[in-house]
Amino acid sequence: MIHDPNKVYIFDTTLRDGEQVPGCQLDTNQKVEIAKSLELLGVDVIEAGFPVSSPGDFNSVIELSKAVTNPIICALTRANKNDIDVAADALRYAKRPRIHTGIGSSDFHIKHKFNSTREDILARAVEAVKYAKKYVEDVEFYAEDAGRADIEFLAKMVEAVIAAGATVVNIPDTNGYCLPDQYGSKILFLKENVKNIDNAIISVHCHNDLGLATANSIAGLQNGARQVECTINGIGERAGNTSMEEVVMILKTHKVLGLNTSIDATQFYDISHTVRNQMNMPVQPNKAIVGANAFSHSSGIHQDGFLKNRENYEIIRPEDVGFPDATIVLTARSGRHALKHHLDRLGHKLEKDHLDIVYKQFLVLADSKQGINDHDLNQLVALHLA
Ligand code: KIV
Ligand code: ZN
Repeated sequence: MIHDPNKVYIFDTTLRDGEQVPGCQLDTNQKVEIAKSLELLGVDVIEAGFPVSSPGDFNSVIELSKAVTNPIICALTRANKNDIDVAADALRYAKRPRIHTGIGSSDFHIKHKFNSTREDILARAVEAVKYAKKYVEDVEFYAEDAGRADIEFLAKMVEAVIAAGATVVNIPDTNGYCLPDQYGSKILFLKENVKNIDNAIISVHCHNDLGLATANSIAGLQNGARQVECTINGIGERAGNTSMEEVVMILKTHKVLGLNTSIDATQFYDISHTVRNQMNMPVQPNKAIVGANAFSHSSGIHQDGFLKNRENYEIIRPEDVGFPDATIVLTARSGRHALKHHLDRLGHKLEKDHLDIVYKQFLVLADSKQGINDHDLNQLVALHLA
């Protein structure tokens, strides 16, 4: 396989790990609409569903396979023949099919989920990859709960599944347990100790239980992983998955990392809104990149600095992620400079002494209500001039 060593493959799992969240279920048409937007966004892989889990998921994988051309279409399975047979069937129309199979890798999962032994789990992992290879060339293996797995056993498992034909190996921090340096070290250990590691791409798949999903994913990429599994708005099980828009904008902002993606970031605002509306899943206002306040400046000191030079308080331009515009929110903490900015915008060019009077009236009003809008400003000026 020849890969650009600096390219990070974006694997979107909004429609699989994201859609599992209670209340986020979509019908097939909605999934197709989101998949088409993901294709336009430039994702490399769309995880379309878990076909054996329900007729709806099976059907969605079929319809997404027909509707999407460029990205790889991926279907999830457990490590058993029936799941793999069903996934292969659902992927029959995919131009670039991938089967994503796997099994638990931590001793906790081996004992308490599978009631099994390391040896048995290893054999099942290898068998599943070999079986999936009968259907498709591109097989991704996930070592579930790798975040808590014994690193020597994990390395053994990764080596064995690559020898069995896995093209991508996913190292999930299923429970969002790791610290960034721990997760990064795991990836580095695999890079340095698994003999055949260069025959596969290492993928990071992090959950956000401790708010570290994005940080852990970046740590994985810094240590040699080249695929990141993520969702729009970071939706996903419990506290969610790694947020695609955060990872992509970190790579763009920190060019020193030397990593690139094929994503057209200017589409983030639109796709974020499509996903929150279709999935009925609001986004917190202070969410990085796509939250309503992500580009709002409200304290007087920040507003003043921003109006002198945006880059005083802006490391990403809102237009780079398709955001309508940065906003200077008028509150009782705003300074004259911010008020003047809005009055100018509305066509009220006031001399300094007039501005001072309107500013005093503005502060009284701002103390008595949440947020001052254009109507309020027009009224303040009209009263002053009356
Ligand atoms: O979090 C996880 O371990 C998963 C796997 C099924 C890939 O979602
Ligand atoms: Zn997951």
